[in-house]
Amino acid sequence: MKSITSETSTGKTCKPRYIPNSEKINVNELQDAYDDLAAQYEKKTWLDQYILGVARQRKQLMSKARGKILDVACGTGLNLPIFPATSEITAIDLSPRMLEIAQQKAAVLNLNVQSKVMDAQKLVSLMAVSIQ
Ligand SMILES: C[S@@+](CC[C@H](N)C(=O)[O-])C[C@H]1O[C@@H](n2cnc3c(N)ncnc32)[C@H](O)[C@@H]1O
Repeated sequence: MKSITSETSTGKTCKPRYIPNSEKINVNELQDAYDDLAAQYEKKTWLDQYILGVARQRKQLMSKARGKILDVACGTGLNLPIFPATSEITAIDLSPRMLEIAQQKAAVLNLNVQSKVMDAQKLVSLMAVSIQ
């Protein structure tokens, strides 16, 4: 299985700068913060997406995905329109409200998406169990 990850040039994942003090808050507070942000997320990240080039990079990366796709921390589903229509997509996110918007996109795009509210950190323990 191939994995496609997005990293900065320093090799660290981007900090969620729309969530103040995100490095200090616990998972429940992070979930609440993303729930609160969900309806405004695409408006607030518009500059990053379309002026600073995130949308172009997203398209380059995500158009390589094929077959069974696991979109971890899928947010509002901005990757969904890029995945091939024949893919089997599983989308997980910590925030029910972000995921709700992703589900609406999937329905409009008529995509086969299984979605689940889930803490991605739990995937690591699930994977550890399955390879033992
Ligand atoms: C900055 S948004 C990015 C969303 C999407 N990947 C995109 O490119 O537009 C970060 C997303 O990660 C989710 N998230 C943060 N921590 C998470 C975790 N531990 N498990 C699952 N999702 C998480 C948030 O709820 C939010 O939807």
